[in-house]
Amino acid sequence: MIKRLLGKLDRSSKKPVDLERTDNVPRHVAIIMDGNGRWAKKRGLPRIAGHHSGMKAVKRVTLAAKAAGVEYLTLYAFSTENWKRPKEEVDYLMKLPMEFLELELADLIRNNVQVRMMGYTNELPKQTLNALEDAVRKTASNTGLILNFALNYGSRREMMEAVKQIADDVQAGKLDCNQIDEQLMSTRLLSGDLPDPDLLIRTSGEIRLSNFMLWQLAYSEMWFTEVYWPEFSEEHFHEALMEYKRRARRYGGL
Ligand code: FPP
Repeated sequence: MIKRLLGKLDRSSKKPVDLERTDNVPRHVAIIMDGNGRWAKKRGLPRIAGHHSGMKAVKRVTLAAKAAGVEYLTLYAFSTENWKRPKEEVDYLMKLPMEFLELELADLIRNNVQVRMMGYTNELPKQTLNALEDAVRKTASNTGLILNFALNYGSRREMMEAVKQIADDVQAGKLDCNQIDEQLMSTRLLSGDLPDPDLLIRTSGEIRLSNFMLWQLAYSEMWFTEVYWPEFSEEHFHEALMEYKRRARRYGGL
């Protein structure tokens, strides 16, 4: 109640919310990093230049999330639908995690960041998967921010596979129908033990979910910005966090 009143005061006075305050920081932030292609086009550059610049934004936002006290940061880096893009672009997107980790893994380790993957990662090219698995292994004991890359991720497939698994277990007599609840379904998703995102950010002015964490985002706050992902700065991230702090989440209650 007091928190809600404080939120209202913040909103009416337009007083900037102090980011140093550790209360009401979203535990889990998920981001649809969109607009790399348009950012490049605006500058007369090839689309892959936009993705390269987007990689720099990944580092910026990771550090900003850590500094703000966010515990989980999930980034939509490649969807199950992205394979339909021209081969040259797909090849580049598959090289990006390798380049990113080559450049940044040491610093991520210094910052106590734990790298994870979420998606049908066995279908990624071997070299890409090896680099990611290496990073996951080397950061497994880190206790700071969890940086979760959604790669070859698609939410409908994720839910369908979960339903199939549950049906198999029921058929095999390992599970009773009455034991199926939201909690069970959540644990069968690729996000496994991660809490649901508290805040979803999408850049580039598009207002849709694009098959991203459809189950997990049921009660998340959403924040959209016109800014293209390569231009997304610490300040934009703070803006999203401040907006989150101003909103009262009621989960369907009053
Ligand atoms: C959407 O923009 C972006 C992607 C499909 C790729 C996102 C990948 C990165 C930001 C780099 C990831 C980095 C690592 C380290 C894995 P778009 O190309 O669809 O943009 P557009 O809508 O303007 O064409």
